[in-house]
Amino acid sequence: MLARPALNNTPLAPPASALSPAAPPSTAPESAAKKRTSQPAPPAISPVIHPRWLRVTHWLNALAVVVMVMSGWRIYNAAPFFDFTFPNGITLGGWLGGALQWHFAGMWLLFANGLLYLALNVATGRLWRKFLPVSPGGVARDLLAALRGRLSHADPRRYNHVQRLAYLFVMADIAVLILSGLVLWKSVQFDLLRDLMGGYEAARRVHFFAMALLAGFVAVHLAMVALVPRSLLTMIRGK
Ligand code: HEM
Repeated sequence: MLARPALNNTPLAPPASALSPAAPPSTAPESAAKKRTSQPAPPAISPVIHPRWLRVTHWLNALAVVVMVMSGWRIYNAAPFFDFTFPNGITLGGWLGGALQWHFAGMWLLFANGLLYLALNVATGRLWRKFLPVSPGGVARDLLAALRGRLSHADPRRYNHVQRLAYLFVMADIAVLILSGLVLWKSVQFDLLRDLMGGYEAARRVHFFAMALLAGFVAVHLAMVALVPRSLLTMIRGK
């Protein structure tokens, strides 16, 4: 259940041989020294909690998501399908054409950077180490502990089950956003995807609700970061 701490090849402590005397004077201390040097050095724990590539892709993803959500609200305002529109002050783009430009720019950043984030997580095995396993029992236990204020944050290398679920959920949600976005962007070319989503208008709803869930994730995510400010430092400095 516990994620193993990341190991690296650069021990923090000097090797045991470097600590032993260069020329032991007599036989008794010599055998003691030999015993000491034959002990395997304890595995060194890297001080890095979030590698650089992860921090860079995280912040670029956050930027892309903010640009896409704010410009998306402006695009929605041009043809709303609910009884409300978003206040223009919290949208991006100024008008429909401008918002579309921002949305497409954000789209390429999110697509390329999101793919890089995912590929590196898979290639390094980090995806399994950090986010799995996640079980309903584990989520219920950690959620209860969090609500009672008893969830430990002592080990910043480990995500609890609620975090794991939230992060896996947001990855899947962004995939749904991209797929439904493809239908809205090129609905003739992606006709199979369009039909799977129940048509163009249904794809608009799918896109909207996936956006609402993403906005909900960001709100909870920011609240959690505010509760554990040390996590923000690790996402900036890496340790
Ligand atoms: C701009 C505001 C944001 C801040 C301040 C922020 C901050 C953080 C911090 C501090 C962590 C590390 C949590 C920990 O170590 O316990 C984290 C992880 C994460 N955040 Fe954010 N975040 C922001 C926006 C976003 C957005 C918009 C997304 C959605 C795409 C997102 C998705 C994630 C994911 C998936 C992780 C886990 C990363 C991993 O370990 O692979 N964050 N964030």
